[in-house]
Amino acid sequence: MNLPYAEPYRIKTIEVIHRSTRSERETWIAAARFNLFNLRSERVFVDLLTDSGTGAMSSAQWSEMMLGDESYAGASSFYKLKDSVREVMGFEHFLPAHQGRAAENVLMSTLIGSGKDGVGKVVPGNSHFDTTKGHIESRGAHALDCTVDEAFDPTLERPFKGNVDLAKLEKVFSEHKREDIPLCILTVTCNSSGGQPVSMENIKAVSGMCRKKGVPLFLDAARFAENAYFIKTREAGYANKSIREIARQMFSHSDGATMSSKKDGIVNIGGLILFRDEELYQRASVFNIMYEGFNTYGGMAGRDLGALSVGLKEATEMEYLESRIGQVAYLGRLLDGYGVPVLKPFGGHAIFVDAKRCLPRVPKEELIAQTLGIEAYLEGGVRGVEIGTLLADRDPDTRRERYPALELLRLAIPRRTYTNAHMDYVAATLANVFERRDSIRRGYRITREAPILRHFTVELEPMS
Ligand SMILES: Cc1ncc(COP(=O)(O)O)c(C=O)c1O
Repeated sequence: MNLPYAEPYRIKTIEVIHRSTRSERETWIAAARFNLFNLRSERVFVDLLTDSGTGAMSSAQWSEMMLGDESYAGASSFYKLKDSVREVMGFEHFLPAHQGRAAENVLMSTLIGSGKDGVGKVVPGNSHFDTTKGHIESRGAHALDCTVDEAFDPTLERPFKGNVDLAKLEKVFSEHKREDIPLCILTVTCNSSGGQPVSMENIKAVSGMCRKKGVPLFLDAARFAENAYFIKTREAGYANKSIREIARQMFSHSDGATMSSKKDGIVNIGGLILFRDEELYQRASVFNIMYEGFNTYGGMAGRDLGALSVGLKEATEMEYLESRIGQVAYLGRLLDGYGVPVLKPFGGHAIFVDAKRCLPRVPKEELIAQTLGIEAYLEGGVRGVEIGTLLADRDPDTRRERYPALELLRLAIPRRTYTNAHMDYVAATLANVFERRDSIRRGYRITREAPILRHFTVELEPMS
C-alpha cells in the first residue's frame, strides 16, 4: 500500500479558536457594516482572509527571534538575512521594509516619483496586486494589465495562467515612449488572477522585451517559492532542479523585486526590496531611510530580520511546498466534489470560488463576491475575502465602477496553520451556501467608501 500523505512537521504550540452560533454571527456582521475586515478575529472560526503574515513560524524561526540583534545599524540579524537573500534569491543589494506595500512605496518613489509625477506614465504587467496598483495610481500613472486572456476563463485548465500576453505588452511598448514606462512588474504567483504562476519561459520573454525597450523589470515576489514549485512541477526541463535553483533563475531575469515577506518568508511582518544595480539601490535607500528606517533594518525589528533569514530557506524546501500546495489542492478538490465552482487549476496559496457561478441570481451591481463572503461567514464562521468589484476600485479618471471579468471569493490558506480537518469544515460550509444559491437573490450596496483601496474600510447595507 502507498503510504498516505502526512504533514512534514508536528505541532508544538496551539491557539484555541471558537465556533459561534449563526445568530451571533448575524449580529456581528451587521455591526461590522458587512465588511469582513471589520470583524474581530475571535468572532471568526476558520480565518482564510489572507495568507499574509498569518503563517506559523518554526522552532528554528522562534530561536532566531531570541537571537535578534536590535542594533540600529549593522545588526548581525541583517547579515544573516543578507546571506539568505544571496543564497535563495541571488541578490547582493537589498533593503528591508516593514511590509510589501512599504517596499512598493519606496520603489515607486524611486522609479515614478512623488505627488502626481506619474501622470501620463504607464506600468504594464500581469494583474497588479491592489496595493501595487494603489502606489502606481496614487502617483497619477496607470497600471496596465497584460495578463493572458485565458486567465479570465475560470474553467480553463492551463499550467501558467499568470503569464503576460506578449502581444499585449508589445502594444503597450509600441504606444508609449520609453520615458513614460518607468517599470514593468511581474507578480509571481499572480494573486489577483487566482494565485496562478508565471512560467520561466514567460519571465524570460518579458525580460527580453523589457531589456530591448530599456524598461526595468521588477518581480512582485511575495510568492516566488510557490511560483518556483509550479515551474518545477509543470514546466519542461525543471523537474530535476532544486526550488532554490529555479528561484535564482527567475530572479536572474529581473532588475530587482519587491517582496511582502509575510507570504513566502513565513514571517508575521516584513518586506524586501531587491536590486541588481547598486546605483538604483543607493537612490532607493534615500527613500527607505525617510519612510522605513536605516538600510540595515528598514522598519523591521532585528528579531524579525532573523526569523525571515530562516523563513526564506524553509519556504524553498520542496517537502514544505508539497505540503503547502497539497493542502490548497485538497480544499480545491473537496469543493469541486461538492459542485462548488472554483477557479482551475487550483492556485498556490488560495482557492478562488467563482462567485458569479456560485450565486447566479445576485446582480453584479450588488457585489456578488462580497455577498458570497458574507454568506460563508454567516453559514460557518469562515472568513474569506472579496476579489471583485470592491477590490477593483473605481476608475481613477471617470470614478465609474470597474466591474472585473471575474468575481471571486478568495479562501487564502495560512502557511502551516490549519489542518485538513479545517479544510473539510470550510468545504462543507461553502457547499451549504451553494446548495441554497437560488434563495440568495439580493446583495449589498455601498454606504461609505474611501477614494482608493476602498475594500479595507468600505461600509455596506443589504439590498433587501
Ligand atoms: C502579490 C502581492 N503583492 C504585494 C502585497 C502587499 O504586501 P503587504 O500586505 O505585506 O503590504 C500582497 C499582499 O497580499 C500581495 O499578495
